Amino acid sequence: MKIGRTLISEEEISSKLAEMGAAISRDYEGKDLLMIGILKGAFIVMADLSRHITVPVAFDFMAVSSYGSATKTSGVVRILKDLDTEITGRHVLIVEDIIDSGLTLHYLIKNLAVRKPASLDLAALLIKDGIERPPLEVKYPGFSIPNEFVVGFGLDYAERYRNLPFIGVLEEE
Ligand code: IMP
Ligand code: MG
Repeated sequence: MKIGRTLISEEEISSKLAEMGAAISRDYEGKDLLMIGILKGAFIVMADLSRHITVPVAFDFMAVSSYGSATKTSGVVRILKDLDTEITGRHVLIVEDIIDSGLTLHYLIKNLAVRKPASLDLAALLIKDGIERPPLEVKYPGFSIPNEFVVGFGLDYAERYRNLPFIGVLEEE
């Protein structure tokens, strides 16, 4: 496999994250914001997005793995690392790299809602088009992309390419 073409450039990502950060900063003014990044994919989005946030913010991470092949999700989610902090009464913003089937987030949101946060919202850099998924409200969406397998900016194929500063499409050699 190799990188076929650039789908979203570094500059486009950077200005989108600035917009998203500005919206989040407005909405969470005076609130106790906790951003939860979903490992491993969201680590770069979390780092870059959070540097556009001007209100006080705390961070936590969850690591999940979904059973299935390298490029497909089964919907069965395993929590590999839970939160360090209690979220009851806090304003929680989940940060994800990509929403594909939506099954991972659907599961996580149900799991976190039980802990009674004051609010629970979602930011995702990428959302795949034309996919049937459970209802998910993405309050801070980045880009809609075609239903192709992408890598870069945190996203991997077999643990590679996460460090690419742009989003690229993977192709057979
Ligand atoms: P879901 O299908 O929405 O549950 O996606 C679960 C996870 O699959 C995401 O958080 C990503 O880690 C991974 N994933 C889904 N689509 C892609 C892709 O196009 N490239 C790389 N990883 C992906
Ligand atoms: Mg992954």
